[in-house]
Amino acid sequence: AQQWRGVIREYADRLPVTEKTKIITLGEGGTPLVPARALSELTGCTVYLKVEGMNPTGSFKDRGMTMAITAAVEAGAKAVVCASTGNTSASAAAYATAAGLNCAVLVPEGKISMGKLSQAIAHGATLLQVDGNFDNCLEVARKLAEAYPVFLVNSVNPARIEGQKTGSFEVVDVLGDAPDIHALPVGNAGNITAYWKGYQEYAAPYSNPTPGADGGELPAVSSKTPAMWGFQAAGAAPIVAGHPIDEPDTIATAIRIGNPASWEQAIAARDESGGVIEAVTDEQILEAHRWLSSQEGVFVEPASAAGVAGILKKHRSGELASGQSIVITVTGHGLKDPDWALKLPDGSPVQPEKVEFDVVSVARALGLE
Ligand code: F0G
Repeated sequence: AQQWRGVIREYADRLPVTEKTKIITLGEGGTPLVPARALSELTGCTVYLKVEGMNPTGSFKDRGMTMAITAAVEAGAKAVVCASTGNTSASAAAYATAAGLNCAVLVPEGKISMGKLSQAIAHGATLLQVDGNFDNCLEVARKLAEAYPVFLVNSVNPARIEGQKTGSFEVVDVLGDAPDIHALPVGNAGNITAYWKGYQEYAAPYSNPTPGADGGELPAVSSKTPAMWGFQAAGAAPIVAGHPIDEPDTIATAIRIGNPASWEQAIAARDESGGVIEAVTDEQILEAHRWLSSQEGVFVEPASAAGVAGILKKHRSGELASGQSIVITVTGHGLKDPDWALKLPDGSPVQPEKVEFDVVSVARALGLE
C-alpha cells in the first residue's frame, strides 16, 4: 500500500499548484476522524472528532504550512516570518527546515507553551519574544514582510487557507457527505475561513483557477454544506463582542487573540452557513479538555477543546437538536501544553501515589487487597 502523500499531492487538482511545483511536505493531513462515543451518547447526535494533533508538528497548521512554504519556495524566497501563539511557529520552523529556508518567528513573551517553544527552537528558527500580544506580533510581522525580503506565512497568506481547506475535503471523503454542523475553535479566524471554503468548493462543481493547474471541471462531491459553529475564549472574543479586545486573556493561549486577521471571512462563514460564533469560558474550555481525555481518549491542548466546550454548552442550553451529524475539529495535541492535565479542577497539582517496591503494596494501592 502507498502511504498518505500529504495534502498537496492528495488534493493537487484543487490547490494552487502545477506539475512543475516543487512540493514541500512532511506528510501532513490524513488525520483520523474519531467517533466521539461519550459526546454522541450525551447529545443524541453522531459526533466525530477531527484529530488534528496527529499532524507532523502536532497541529492543523501543517496543512496550511505545506502550501505556504511550497509557495514561498516557488516565489524564490530565502526566508519566512510569522507571528504566532505557538503552533504556527512550530509548523513554520519545521517546514522551513524541510525546504532549506531561514525562519523567524515572533511570539508573545511568556504566553506560549513550552512544547511549542521547544519545537521552534529545535527546528532552528530565530525565535524573538515580543513584549506584547499576538496582535502586536502580527502587525510587526506584516510590516517586516512588506519592507524586507521575507515571506509572511501567517494565515493572511492565501496559500495557508488553501492548504487548510483540505480538512473539509477529508471529512466529506470519509463521511460520504458534509455533516450538519462543523464546530471548531476561533482565534485569528483562518481555520474557520478555510473549512468554510473547503466545504463550499466540495458542494459545487469546481474548476481550479490556477494557471497551469490540472484543467477541467470536477463534479460536486457533497450534497450540502454544514452550519459553521465557531467558539472563541470568553476573555478573547472580539467577534462575539463586535469590537477588538485590547488585552485578550485566556488560559487557552493558542487563541489569545484580540483582533483576528480573518474577522470578516469568519463572519461570512457564520452567516452564509447559517452558523454561530459564540464564547466559551476558560472553565468550560478546561471541562471540555478533561472530557476529551477522560471520556473519549483524545488528549488535546486547552484551546483545541473550545469546539467541544461549545457543543456541550449548546446541548445544555437546549440549542442542540438531537439526531444531527457533528464534526468537531480538535486542533492541537495535548502534549503541546501538558501542564493542564496535571492540575485538578480546583487548580491544585495532581500528586501520583507512591508505593513500595513489592506486589502486595501495589495490589493494595489498586484496591485488589
Ligand atoms: N487551536 C489551536 C491549537 C491554535 O493554535 C489556533 C491558532 C487555533 C485553534 C485557532 O485557529 O487562528 O485559525 O482561528 N493558533 C495560531 C498560532 C494563532 O499562532 O499558532 P485560527
